[in-house]
Amino acid sequence: MRRPRRNRRTVAIRDMVQEHRLSVEQLVYPLFLVDGKGIKEEVSSLPGNHRHSIDEAMKTMAECLELGLKRFILFPAIPEKLKDQKATHSYAAENFYLKAAQEFKERFPKCTLISDVAMDPYSSDGHDGLVKDGEILNDETLPILAKMSLAQAQAGFDILGPSDMMDGRVGAIRSALDQAGYTNIGIMSYTAKYASSFYGPFRDALDSAPKAGDKKTYQMNPANRREALLEAELDTLEGADFLMVKPAIHYLDVICDIKSQSQLPVAAYHVSGECAMLIAACERGWLDYQKAMPETLLSIHRAGADVIISYFAKDMAMLLKG
Ligand code: PBG
Repeated sequence: MRRPRRNRRTVAIRDMVQEHRLSVEQLVYPLFLVDGKGIKEEVSSLPGNHRHSIDEAMKTMAECLELGLKRFILFPAIPEKLKDQKATHSYAAENFYLKAAQEFKERFPKCTLISDVAMDPYSSDGHDGLVKDGEILNDETLPILAKMSLAQAQAGFDILGPSDMMDGRVGAIRSALDQAGYTNIGIMSYTAKYASSFYGPFRDALDSAPKAGDKKTYQMNPANRREALLEAELDTLEGADFLMVKPAIHYLDVICDIKSQSQLPVAAYHVSGECAMLIAACERGWLDYQKAMPETLLSIHRAGADVIISYFAKDMAMLLKG
C-alpha cells in the first residue's frame, strides 16, 4: 500500500524530504524613514514597526545585520509642506531620503538598498501619478519617475522599486538609467500590484493616502489573474530585473503563475495589512505568532517567491538564527 505517512514518521525524515525552506537571504525588511534625529515612532496600525530618523534606522539596521538580514526597502514620510502636484521634492538635492541612502551605504557597505519609485509620498494629491482634472496622467508621469530614479541611483540605491503601475515606466526608467551610465542599477518592478485594501497601515505610516478618489485606474483589479501575466511580459520586455507581486498572501496564485511563466526572479510583497491582521490575532491570543508567522512566509515562498518583502523579516531572521 502507498503510505505517504512513512515520510513523515520522524523529524529526520521529515527534514530530509522538506521541499521548501526559508533562508535569511530571501528576506527584505521594509523601513519607514522620517527626517530628523532621535525619532522612533511606532506605527499604531502596525505594532513593532516604526517611522525612524536616519540615526535610529541605523540602530535597527545594525541589529538586522547581526542576524544576517542585509536587504532593506526604504520608504520616506514627507511633511505636507514639501509635497506638490509634481512631486518635485522626490529628486531635490535636499530630500532626506536620498541622504539616508547615501549614509546607510557609507556605514553599511554590505547592505542592499531598494528604493520606492512613485509620486505618492511627495504628491499633494497622494497619487502615484500626475493628477489633472481628477485623471491620472500616464505619459506625463514617466519623466518625473525617471528623474526620481536618477536621483536615487546617484544616492547609492542598489535596486529601484517602481511601485506606481504607470504603463511603460520600467522602460522609461531603464533607458534613463542607461543613458546616465547607471547600467548596473537594477529594477525590481511592482509588476502585479493590486488595488488592495491591505495597504492601510502603510498609508498611515507615511500619511500617503490619496486625497481624492482611489488607485483603481492604475493598480490592478483584485479579480484578475491572467492580466498579471500581461504585466509580467511587458515588464520583462522593458528590462525589469525582478517581477513583484503585491500583496502576497491573498495573491499566491498570481505568484505561482508568474513563477511558472518567467525566467526572472519573483518577489512578493507581504504588505502592511496582511501583517497587521496576523499581529492583531496574535495579540488577542487567537494565534501563536512564533508558528503562524513562519508558516505565512513559507507559504509565500512555496507559491514561488524567490524574494519576500515582509515586516516580519527581522523576527523571521531571529527565528532562523535560533
Ligand atoms: C505606494 C506604495 C504602497 C505600498 C508600497 N508602495 C501603497 C499604495 O500603493 O498606496 C504598500 C505597502 C504596504 O502596504 O506594506 N507607492
